[in-house]
Amino acid sequence: MEQNGRSSWGSNIGFLLAAIGSAVGLGNIWGFPHKMGKSGGFTFLIVYLFLAVFVGLIVMVSELAIGRKTKLSPIDAYKQVTKKFKWLGWAATIAPFLIMSFYTVLGGYVMQYMALNLAELSFGITAGGMDSFVAILVNPFGAVVFTILFIIICMVIVQGGVSGGIEKFNKIGMPALFVMLLVIIVRSLTLPYASEGLKFMFVPGYSVAKGYISEAPDIISVLGTAGGQMFFSLSLAMGAILTYGSYLSKEENLVKNSVIIVAADTLIALLAGFAVIPAAISYNLQNGVAPGDMMIGGPKLLFVTLQDVFANMGKIGPLFGVIFYALVLIAAISSAISLMETVGAHWIDKDLAKGEKDTRKKIISIVSLLILVEAVVVAWDGLGSNGIHPAALLGIQGSVPDVLADWLDFMDTWSEYLLMPLGAMCMALMIGWESGPDLVLDEVAHGDPSNAFKAFYKFCVKFIVPIVMAFVLAGSLKGACGGSAVMWYIICGVALVFFWVFAAVGNKKEVAE
Ligand code: PFF
Repeated sequence: MEQNGRSSWGSNIGFLLAAIGSAVGLGNIWGFPHKMGKSGGFTFLIVYLFLAVFVGLIVMVSELAIGRKTKLSPIDAYKQVTKKFKWLGWAATIAPFLIMSFYTVLGGYVMQYMALNLAELSFGITAGGMDSFVAILVNPFGAVVFTILFIIICMVIVQGGVSGGIEKFNKIGMPALFVMLLVIIVRSLTLPYASEGLKFMFVPGYSVAKGYISEAPDIISVLGTAGGQMFFSLSLAMGAILTYGSYLSKEENLVKNSVIIVAADTLIALLAGFAVIPAAISYNLQNGVAPGDMMIGGPKLLFVTLQDVFANMGKIGPLFGVIFYALVLIAAISSAISLMETVGAHWIDKDLAKGEKDTRKKIISIVSLLILVEAVVVAWDGLGSNGIHPAALLGIQGSVPDVLADWLDFMDTWSEYLLMPLGAMCMALMIGWESGPDLVLDEVAHGDPSNAFKAFYKFCVKFIVPIVMAFVLAGSLKGACGGSAVMWYIICGVALVFFWVFAAVGNKKEVAE
């Protein structure tokens, strides 16, 4: 569908499914369950929910409002609403571009695992998790081929347009994902020792008491971990939600939509926990894997532990493997297409402003090609396996910080750990202290917010969001670069005060003039 030549959603439910599709991704399936278990189970959940309401919801409403108000993609949208923070638009376009460099590679790995389980199903063979993962990592050619395939799938969907491609895919993909997730949950919860997995996830301190992890993180670290996870999982501060909001009709209620997206994403993250953690714990306990090894996070949880789980389920295992990796693939595609759309939307808008219509296909092809170039580097690197990682190129040996360990971590650090929290902090400061919260609230008024929501929004956007984001930024930087926590808190505290003053000073004078 189009309005004045610009794309728009076919329906509000179509928009909701697309936004939930953007939010539900690899972050939900491997990030949330593992971080929850590692960071105090129920305590983490409470902190996460608190942040989702006081920070996530506020940023979600803000992005949707700025998008819908300007009807522009991030670069031009921020140009229109701020004098001092115009660079936020570029940050919200560069970050998704960088994320695509590794998200597409991971999508390619998921496709390889799906193919592997299909082959197992057909030929009755089984492949262990570690052997399979090592084989994939040291085969750069295979990784590149599947990455290209993943990019082509995303490209075709995005070229189909906002309602004709993205909305259509999510309308089928999201319900399918949900059903497949339920199938895996039933299997996971009926495995031996499944209750241990639930205790790992929910009982505070259980993971430490049982020796699954060595020590409980302090509350500040939990805040940083939960905040970073929440932002990545909700696709916030990376332009995607703003861009999706720019295609939304004026009639729709932004607050209600935001609540639905946040709630659905959190629910799917919890359900993913039920699907993944009991199965992983069960496998480890049955096979006598040392408790410390029990919880492997990140790519290994998905590609080593879970492949072992399926390989050890007997004949039926590969079938569950196919279902599981298919659902992960849908989750990865629905997120990746939002990132690709965000990067391309700027140039599509530019052409439209010049009166050139129908350039979407051409622009998305170029964007895909550029993504391919950076993704090939990450795919070839194989998580640092093939000797071309940043530390190797710099001639650094021994233990290196995450940011230099491999190209995936390098790209992730710049996008997820730097641009995202810095962007969210500055966006809140821009709304709270430069333009004033009415920039957002006037737009939300099309959906008629209550006075209580207005007061809540103003307080959160001015104080809670910037302060929490400074903590998240400090936690992320410490995690990625090493060094002392105190040093990063001081650096981020100074950055917060600097941008706060930068946002607030001079505005009153302008008004007085
Ligand atoms: N939310 C996605 C996930 O949880 O995997 C990742 C993501 C998608 C981040 C889109 C940012 C974004 F703009």
